[in-house]
Amino acid sequence: GMEAAALAAAAQDLPSLRAAMEGFAGSPLRDTATQLVFADGVPGSRVMFVGEAPGADEDRLGRPFVGVSGQLLDRMLASIGLNRGENFYISNILPWRPPGNRTPTDAEMQLFLPFIRRHIALAGPDLLVLLGGTAAKALVGGKEGITRMRGKWHDVRISNDQVIPALATLHPAYLLRTPTAKKDAWHDCLMLRRRMNEA
Ligand code: URA
Repeated sequence: GMEAAALAAAAQDLPSLRAAMEGFAGSPLRDTATQLVFADGVPGSRVMFVGEAPGADEDRLGRPFVGVSGQLLDRMLASIGLNRGENFYISNILPWRPPGNRTPTDAEMQLFLPFIRRHIALAGPDLLVLLGGTAAKALVGGKEGITRMRGKWHDVRISNDQVIPALATLHPAYLLRTPTAKKDAWHDCLMLRRRMNEA
């Protein structure tokens, strides 16, 4: 079958990207997952969120961040005026659930990178928010962990001629396990709101 980079480059709109990803046979994750989890929210929104990979709820329902992590995320975003049905778009680095929700391998992140880069280009956000270490590592790179990267804007290159500012923040699943970290996530929400109010 065709490679991810060629499939992604050929897609000229979001429906064709989705179809290309459905047909991508380059990962065994497709065989263990129930279905592709492409995106949710409003394409063309000024801000796009990128998470790690679908979990069990997302795998079952076919939409990103619909389990308890997603519910926490939606509540936090609502408090800064962002609502899924209205003014943000959301996807993941991996479109299929890794078995048992294990962390994606570096090889899996690299394999799916052309798809998420093209996805971002076609959705057209002005700003990105990277939810957790996997999204930050995959799209920004470098050796820093999420603890050091969060609360800062980073440059994400999505093509030869396009760079998008990206705020790294903590993953909502981490916030559920470590509620004391919510103060940092709230700080990052306010950073996002300030940036959106500037432009
Ligand atoms: N965690 C993620 O990173 N993405 C989802 O879609 C759900 C949980």
